[in-house]
Amino acid sequence: MPARPESVRLGHVVVDVRLEEETPQRVLRQIRADLLRTPREIAPRFFYDDRGSELFERITELPEYYQTRTERALLHEISGDVARRCGCPVLVELGSGASSKTRVLLDAFADAHGCEVYVPFDVSEGIVRRAADELASEYPGLSVHAVIGDFTHHLEYIPSEARRLIIFLGGTIGNFTPAQARDFLTRVASVMQRDEYFLLGVDLIKDVATLEAAYNDSQGVTAAFNRNILNVVNAVADADFVPQAFEHRAFFDTVEHRIDLRLVSRREQSVRLRRAGLLLLLRDGDEIRTEISVKYDQRLTRELLRDCGLELVEWYTDPESLFGLALARRPSSGAAG
Ligand code: SAH
Ligand code: TRP
Repeated sequence: MPARPESVRLGHVVVDVRLEEETPQRVLRQIRADLLRTPREIAPRFFYDDRGSELFERITELPEYYQTRTERALLHEISGDVARRCGCPVLVELGSGASSKTRVLLDAFADAHGCEVYVPFDVSEGIVRRAADELASEYPGLSVHAVIGDFTHHLEYIPSEARRLIIFLGGTIGNFTPAQARDFLTRVASVMQRDEYFLLGVDLIKDVATLEAAYNDSQGVTAAFNRNILNVVNAVADADFVPQAFEHRAFFDTVEHRIDLRLVSRREQSVRLRRAGLLLLLRDGDEIRTEISVKYDQRLTRELLRDCGLELVEWYTDPESLFGLALARRPSSGAAG
């Protein structure tokens, strides 16, 4: 299929839709292969249709989900320092979602030297269009160049005319295995110029009760978010998953220091995925993993960055050490790059 990038110009907002460049065959093959693994898996990007993004926004406001408010408060503390150190006219945000914390950085940039272009990059088109319009009207003089794509495939569409600070917040790096995280950050580093900066948010290793509560909220929003992935797969693969026939399960794996998120079949059932050419037979109690969320500490973060050719220049954390922000740089010389 020929590339069909759609660029819509609306005042200061440009939206590049790159998802169509993905052949549906590749996506369907991936869904099929993941469901045939042990344990069975569904890739987390399928959480985020419009309803999934909305549910995620509700998760970020839950009392048990300390990540978002902790990271936002930390950004308030440090964004002036980050803006002064980087002095970049372009801010790129991977997995930007609703861009709710981005305003903290944009305000600090405005005080320091101004930000000319903001590049939100996400798979979830509806929420990014809304965030892009809001930011363009809240920040006069700011151009928003949104990219709708998969950040594991489409990084080359990040504009590169001027020096950039690339940010990846929310602990989303934890949704990769350590090997996938290295592969991903190596690719991020390879699109970075020397002396460009990278700001990474990581959720920190802490007591199991706090971690497990964050993914098992009392209102059941996380359970609804988890089950919604089945609605998305139903639409993509013309499948007939019944979300209510699955139970939400999230537990902390102390060996891999990660949250493991699953859907548990509550009965014996068969699921047909017509477009993926798959008939899934599930017994009562069979599980599908929908996400992992690896937790880090300063040492693990530094090593991860170093292995990908990035140098940690500053480590920031909140007083309770719940969440970490790592400012890194592609070094201008030396062996690391
Ligand atoms: N940065 C926000 C959202 C974090 S949730 C915050 O900190 O609150 C993860 C975000 O990454 C979602 O907006 C989701 O749509 C996006 N995402 C997940 N997988 C993706 C992929 N493969 N490519 C691009 N975006 C992805
Ligand atoms: N990046 C977030 C995290 O790992 C994504 C997330 C938050 C999430 N809450 C969730 C994913 C609940 C699935 C279920 O914390």
